[in-house]
Amino acid sequence: MGPSLTSSRTDVDALPFSVEVHVGPGDFRVEMARDVARGLSAASKELQPKYFYDARGSALFEQITETAEYYQTRTERSILERIAPEVITRHGIDEVVELGAGSARKTETLLRALHARNAAARYIPFDVDPHMLVDTAGRLSALLPGLSVHAVAGDFERHMATIPSPSGRRLIVFLGGTVGNFSPGARGGFISKVAQLMDPGDLLLVGTDLVGDVARIEAAYNDATGVTSDFNLNALRVLNRELGADFDLGHFVHDARYDHAQDCIEMFARATLAQRVRVEELGLDLAFAEGEEIRTEISCKFTRESVSQMYESGGLKLAEWHTDPNQWFAVSLAARD
Ligand code: AVJ
Repeated sequence: MGPSLTSSRTDVDALPFSVEVHVGPGDFRVEMARDVARGLSAASKELQPKYFYDARGSALFEQITETAEYYQTRTERSILERIAPEVITRHGIDEVVELGAGSARKTETLLRALHARNAAARYIPFDVDPHMLVDTAGRLSALLPGLSVHAVAGDFERHMATIPSPSGRRLIVFLGGTVGNFSPGARGGFISKVAQLMDPGDLLLVGTDLVGDVARIEAAYNDATGVTSDFNLNALRVLNRELGADFDLGHFVHDARYDHAQDCIEMFARATLAQRVRVEELGLDLAFAEGEEIRTEISCKFTRESVSQMYESGGLKLAEWHTDPNQWFAVSLAARD
């Protein structure tokens, strides 16, 4: 059993970890209603990828990471395993802040190195899902006794500033290639918000999927077992449940393809026939033409150049660049001065 959650601040002294919750139970739905109304009323319909991740969507994503085609997770993990002890010790890291921590499976390698250096070091996982954070915080504080785990539940848009200020040399991590969900124009703003959580000397570590063989990258989003398709269409199931929509999942198909103009994978749910969809709670009646698509995600691919540019547009500087032998994925470090 984890601690109980309140909508303000929960610090339970008896537990080896704390969870501070800034997202109220109603907040998520209010925001979702606003985003979905805007996205589905647009000329080119779109949804934000964050709405994939209900319990089922998160489980499906975990399954994606185990498919043969989805090379990203295992490649990033191999890079992290190779560089973690070095990064932690050489830079004298005292605490790790993780953005979008989720289950923090890949972060363990960094935290083991951190804990080995300083058994009383601090880990601050930040995620939109407080339940996930309770599990993650509980698991890691049991695994690494003495590690001070201070979880913060909030979203990137509104709550990043509630992350406590550094109490030693800080490493902020943002793994998985999720920074690729931002459009090229939105990355700089995000990075500069992250930079505000850093003191001079602190570092940011980001995982990015790299530009490369298009067939290999497209295959990672079109796995043969169909898990990615289930994951994608799960977004419609979420709208049915949360907003009283009546999407017929049998009348939409998954598609994912590479956009060469932006170097992004774009994922779509495509209507297989002309149909109307009602979104009851938004009072919205949607008409779909046969073949019409809802874009559900962009996942941008990077080069060393574009990563460096991303950091500079947010006021940081690329400091280290680590890839796997195939150069499929990169883990980079950025510094502020
Ligand atoms: C979690 C955003 C990094 O873009 O590769 C996987 C999500 N979508 N398969 C990615 C995803 C389809 C993933 N990120």
